[in-house]
Amino acid sequence: MSKIVIDREKCTLCHACLETCPFHLFFVEGSQVRTRREEECMACGHCISVCPAAAVTHAELDPAGFLPAPETPPISPEALYSFLRSRRSCRVYADKEVSKPILEALIDIGRFAPTGHNRQNFEFIVIQDKVRVQKLSQAAAHFFFHDFIKEVEASPELNPLRRMIPEFRMDYEFALQGRDRIFRGAPVFILRHAPAAVAASVDKCLYAIFHMVMMAEVLGLGTCLNRRFILAAERSPEIAGELPLPAGHKIFGCVTVGFPKLRFHRMPPRKPPNVKWL
Ligand SMILES: Cc1cc2nc3c(=O)[nH]c(=O)nc-3n(C[C@H](O)[C@H](O)[C@H](O)COP(=O)(O)O)c2cc1C
Repeated sequence: MSKIVIDREKCTLCHACLETCPFHLFFVEGSQVRTRREEECMACGHCISVCPAAAVTHAELDPAGFLPAPETPPISPEALYSFLRSRRSCRVYADKEVSKPILEALIDIGRFAPTGHNRQNFEFIVIQDKVRVQKLSQAAAHFFFHDFIKEVEASPELNPLRRMIPEFRMDYEFALQGRDRIFRGAPVFILRHAPAAVAASVDKCLYAIFHMVMMAEVLGLGTCLNRRFILAAERSPEIAGELPLPAGHKIFGCVTVGFPKLRFHRMPPRKPPNVKWL
């Protein structure tokens, strides 16, 4: 039985479904649009979204899940430019908890990031328990600023990190005084993980994380991407043991979330782009 159904009464033969389908599953036979090789369909929903007559349905896609798309981009170029330019990493957080509905809103929008072959294999770990956040911060600080320094000193491969050793030593002193030098006092951090063996995992994790970062901004939250914790979790069995990661999965995205204590009054300049126009 066909999982893609075209309502002949509604179809106007505009062929938009033919044009949009990435796998060319639609074709014309006589005066009808038909489908073939449906087993290759990745259920991206382009055919349904693009049909002006709402003539296409898909057995795996709930019609109620399709919301009306805006006719024109809902954000002006100027507003988007200003929004993207004003986003800054937050490393100073207010002493205020982030509620679960807010965190759920972040995860929700993370699901709409692109994934290779529309796999949507989104898996997140949200660490919102204060004691757990602190424990993992301390463990990561010990690993990063103490154990990892020895690795950096011994390994020629890690040579580029050598210039950071004085900074790591200072961070270690701070961490010993109980200051959070990993998550910078953020009440929550979110991990996005995916199969280690899949080459595109790193991209799709960062896309999802950045969707969440954008939503956090408009909800008045501050965020900061965190590579330090990923490195620590990758190399320290103690930290990895605290995280419910499925076998074969790796963390590819980590972001801290909390309400910012400080407001940025100015947007900084950046280096001019290095572009080759061909
Ligand atoms: C992949 C990646 C990893 C990062 N890891 C860290 C981190 O571990 N700790 C941290 O404080 N900032 C981290 N950052 C934030 C950068 O330092 C920050 O984006 C950069 O300095 C520019 O500042 P802005 O985000 O405020 O514009 C990371 C950023 C990226 C893109």
